Amino acid sequence: MSSQIRVAILGATGAVGTELLELLESRNFPIADLKLLASSRSAGRTLPFQGEQLPVEAVSENSFKGIDLVLASAGGSTSKAWAAKIVEAGAVMIDNSSAFRMDSQVPLVIPEVNPDAAATHQGIIANPNCTTILMAVAVWPLHQVQPVERIVAATYQSASGAGFQAMEELKTQTQAILKGETPPTQSFPYPLAFNLFPHNSKLNEEGYCEEELKMVNETRKIFNAPQLRVTATCVRVPVLRAHSEAINLEFTEPLPAAKAREVLANAPGVRLVEDWQANYFPMPMDATGKDEVLVGRIRQDLSHPCGLELWLCGDQIRKGAALNAIQIAELLVERNLIQPAKAMAAY
Ligand code: A2P
Repeated sequence: MSSQIRVAILGATGAVGTELLELLESRNFPIADLKLLASSRSAGRTLPFQGEQLPVEAVSENSFKGIDLVLASAGGSTSKAWAAKIVEAGAVMIDNSSAFRMDSQVPLVIPEVNPDAAATHQGIIANPNCTTILMAVAVWPLHQVQPVERIVAATYQSASGAGFQAMEELKTQTQAILKGETPPTQSFPYPLAFNLFPHNSKLNEEGYCEEELKMVNETRKIFNAPQLRVTATCVRVPVLRAHSEAINLEFTEPLPAAKAREVLANAPGVRLVEDWQANYFPMPMDATGKDEVLVGRIRQDLSHPCGLELWLCGDQIRKGAALNAIQIAELLVERNLIQPAKAMAAY
């Protein structure tokens, strides 16, 4: 395999797709050729890349011929619809949707946590859910020095998690409310501006929504810890981009806050943000556009001797989606893992 990769972005016009494009350029990914794919709605549009305007094509049967790597971010049904064609064409698919994340044949990878899992791919590698990635990047290094037994998470999720249209909707809702008008709702079931609501994904019989179950199940898979106890409450908040999370950890033995701070200060992908005098800790505004997960307010849990509290913010579009996918792609190049799949029957 040449070190120059023929890449396609499926969902190139979306919030994550445009960030993928920016990251491929800014990180000098070794591209031989780049194809931009989206729905027929976007055919004829162009997007900037390396000083040129590249055409966007409607995805079709022939889109993946001669492609080595597909970065997919066009939703679960689009990923499911095209996965077989992608693998059949001999390309590796890094999929941002939830379509294949819990498939036992598909590795679910965060390069700072389980890079070796990428080597087991059979054509598809799944990029985890955004809140899961941000939490895992912060919790994994602590789990290495003192095993975590239980995680209780509360999330404060921005509009960007629902795509470009949702971000625009938050802006127009804000303007409408300020003018005394009724805010329009299309992407979300309720107004998000000046409001918040529990995550609007599907609820199961036990009362958990899909987003919360992603945090539970994906963390277990990524950590290779099927027994890990995880619970979450996911909430949508009127922030444009970058998610926040309040995390309570219960360890097998006490982990002093000072030790946790030292570990996180040296952890890959993490930036410790704590100024106790100024009461300055991670904020979504500061995390926006940044690669690292910002972590702070690390403190002993008063209610449990083995408990620890922390607060984090991370750019949902970047480390929560596009950056993680690009880091997986870089890992594949580094380890020479972009090869036609050996098994494709399952897709
Ligand atoms: P399009 O812009 O043509 O609709 P976001 O997450 O920001 O909403 O973006 C979703 C991305 O997925 C967009 O690039 C969108 O393209 C793309 N997309 C949505 N549905 C399809 C589809 N059926 N086939 C191909 N691309 C799709």
